[in-house]
Amino acid sequence: MRKLKNILVTGGAGFIGSNFIHYLFGLSSANGNLFNDADFSGNVVNVDCLTYAGNLESLKDVEEKFGGKRYFFEKVDICNRPEIERILKQYDIDTIIHFAAESHVDRSILGPETFIKTNVMGTFTLLDAARSFWKKPDGTFRDDVLFHHISTDEVYGSLGETGYFTETTPYDPRSPYSSSKASSDHIAMAYFHTYGLPLTLSNCTNNYGPYQFPEKLLPLMISNIRDGKPLPVYGKGDNIRDWIYVEDHNRAVWLIVNKGRTGQKYNIGGENEWQNIKLLHKVIELSAEKLGKPASEIEKTITYVKDRPGHDKRYAIDCTKIKTELGWQRKMTFEEGLNATVDWYLKNTEWVNHILSGEYTKWIDANYKSR
Ligand code: NAD
Ligand code: TYD
Repeated sequence: MRKLKNILVTGGAGFIGSNFIHYLFGLSSANGNLFNDADFSGNVVNVDCLTYAGNLESLKDVEEKFGGKRYFFEKVDICNRPEIERILKQYDIDTIIHFAAESHVDRSILGPETFIKTNVMGTFTLLDAARSFWKKPDGTFRDDVLFHHISTDEVYGSLGETGYFTETTPYDPRSPYSSSKASSDHIAMAYFHTYGLPLTLSNCTNNYGPYQFPEKLLPLMISNIRDGKPLPVYGKGDNIRDWIYVEDHNRAVWLIVNKGRTGQKYNIGGENEWQNIKLLHKVIELSAEKLGKPASEIEKTITYVKDRPGHDKRYAIDCTKIKTELGWQRKMTFEEGLNATVDWYLKNTEWVNHILSGEYTKWIDANYKSR
């Protein structure tokens, strides 16, 4: 087990990062303190520049309980090298867990530049700053340090009806988002092979759970159901995604950071494939019950819209490696996780309305007038 004292979490105000910080501090997620097994007693520095997707309201409880004691927030862009260097030094960071990214495929199609800046240049900046900060005078690295790079299964491309992505599947990214993440994965691995930077990497499937920006499939659909708005299904709705509860992803990340072998990548998946349209029917059924509306009324709001260009057909992960090597096991059942998630978005209307009220609305108005 590594001894982790001062962790720098990038993108901690986003969906997965904010859930990760909750998990580290043993605070509840949508479904209570079910998996409160992080057992961490060190400090967390959250570096986030608060794009449209970053929201400090997601960390209110963390700030109240641990702010200025074990939790520190720095509003900094990961591309800002002098600021990253200052933070590494000021907090004596020994572990970097790198979540920050531009993360939405549709946005990457409309405006790829920020994806290249943040995902490629930002990752490079962090890696290179860590390399300088953690190097000892003899050119080797401190033995208590680790850089963990968070990535996606989308770097592997698209599957047909059968097969799974393994850690050795060749990269074949199709969207500006996935290609920017693939680039960052390669740069991260290059820092391990070339410079010996202690590094691990994980590629995960689609996450669901609380605090996800309501432009992604599940929170968008739940919010639109609540508001009686159309439910936009791309193409025929037959694309397939593998869904994992966010805390199961974060538990896997924590295991890798504590026990993973450096220079290794680990696939993380939910082993839970759903066709988009079937998943939507399920969400409608759950929401109808909770809202006291007939599901048949909500079903009428399903609207088939133009397909996403280059829409990847199917993602599915083989996560044998992390299971056998690190003993990771998904704990949340989909039934329970989806139910808790639908509940969370229906109840946390203030969080949803606030996050939708800023810059995002201007962007969606400019780009999706028809919705
Ligand atoms: P998100 O969009 O919800 O959050 C991203 C966070 O990064 C935001 O808080 C944003 O403000 C911050 N950020 C963006 N650019 C930044 C910059 N230049 N400097 C500092 N902060 C910046 O994303 P997410 O869904 O939480 O994804 C987190 C990570 O997990 C990403 O690396 C993503 O590629 C990866 N991932 C996501 C999923 C998923 O289903 N959401 C699945 C697999 C992997
Ligand atoms: P998304 O949540 O954007 O994740 P990703 O594209 O990274 O997998 O989309 C999940 C799936 O849902 C994907 O196949 C696209 C589809 N989708 C819709 O049909 N309608 C929507 O409004 C959105 C946002 C996604």
